[in-house]
Amino acid sequence: MKNILHYSNKNIGLLGLGTVGKAVYDEIFTNISSVLVKNLTKSRNIELSNVKITNNFQDILQDKNVETIIELIGGETPAYEYIKESIKSKKNVITANKEVMAKYGKELLELATKNKVFLLYEASVAGGIPIISPIIKDLSANEFKSVRGIINGTTNYILTKMSRENLELIEVLKEAQDLGYAESDPTSDIEGFDAQYKISILSRLAFNSDVSLDQIYLEGISSIKSKDFDYANELGYTIKLLATASINSNELLLVKVHPALIPNDVPMASVNGVLNAVEIDGDLVGTLWFQGAGAGAKATASSVLSDLIRIRNSDVQSIVNHKKTYKITSMDKHFCQYYLRLNVSDKPGVLASIAKEFGERNISISSVLQKDLYENGSADLVIMTYPSIEKDMQASIKKITNLESVFNIESMIRVESYK
Ligand code: HSE
Repeated sequence: MKNILHYSNKNIGLLGLGTVGKAVYDEIFTNISSVLVKNLTKSRNIELSNVKITNNFQDILQDKNVETIIELIGGETPAYEYIKESIKSKKNVITANKEVMAKYGKELLELATKNKVFLLYEASVAGGIPIISPIIKDLSANEFKSVRGIINGTTNYILTKMSRENLELIEVLKEAQDLGYAESDPTSDIEGFDAQYKISILSRLAFNSDVSLDQIYLEGISSIKSKDFDYANELGYTIKLLATASINSNELLLVKVHPALIPNDVPMASVNGVLNAVEIDGDLVGTLWFQGAGAGAKATASSVLSDLIRIRNSDVQSIVNHKKTYKITSMDKHFCQYYLRLNVSDKPGVLASIAKEFGERNISISSVLQKDLYENGSADLVIMTYPSIEKDMQASIKKITNLESVFNIESMIRVESYK
């Protein structure tokens, strides 16, 4: 236990006693007045005799001692209502809830300002890595050019293992679930929703612009195959699920989450396992790099408790209003190199017919590898293009899919530029 608050008041209400809730409780139990749990009879292996335990949120709200509510139940419902009610009842709120802050952050932050209470959420993005507070506070003099990162530990663990051990996603996922690294329903992680929530929160802060979830391009990792790592490696890359928010040459903001080829020689390529990393580029400070535990009980508790200390010290900044706001642009206009893996008929003229379709949309091929030849006479063709416009690439893919000698476009992965 840490005596981090240096007082003996019991003025905290805790919602949730899951993994993170327990870690927070362990550190500050002398300051907790009441705790909300779902199941009152569940045995928990912690000493709860000096706090009020309830399964009714109204008991927490009506606890006169409670000045700050720490929400650690997660998910949209009922967390959103609980946070809203707490603010309306003039309680400070600390939350680790990325879904609520991504979907309702603007409304809840305005409500908190109106009610003169604090709503802090450092733990909602990248667990223990301090990223929200640096953007709001320490780096507030900067206009940002980009924020990009690996902000989902589950998919990073899976991709790392696929890459190192030549395994398919389904095999690694099963093992990750058995070890407790992946949720029993892994959809939010695998399909990229978790990273989408987090990059939406970071975009709002770094670019002073409201980015709704439907304005964020989203693609998860389910179509990545183990052989993509071999081919990517041969070309000098690895594959990561990358979330980015960046300003393009027309001063428009593009926010996206998708698997990306990362050059093996940049630091992001070495962020492995469950680690998270965020790279932020400011006009004054240049590039800053944050790396660490993106999840886990103690790391997440570190962010939650630091928010609590900020409230105690009244050291809370709001989004700086001197900053520019940006219009959001769509993925159509994105410009990057592409990696494609196609299963084609291994006969003369196939490559020429594919190159012709690319050529018609001004897409230039930078390299081609012909790989595994299969018994049915098909082969894998790995194509790397020069930077091209997404809309042209999508149009070419439609045409190429219809070519008789192309059986399937197995994967299309964008290459992240580090120039
Ligand atoms: N499920 C998240 C991850 C952790 O895998 O990174 C909490 O945000």
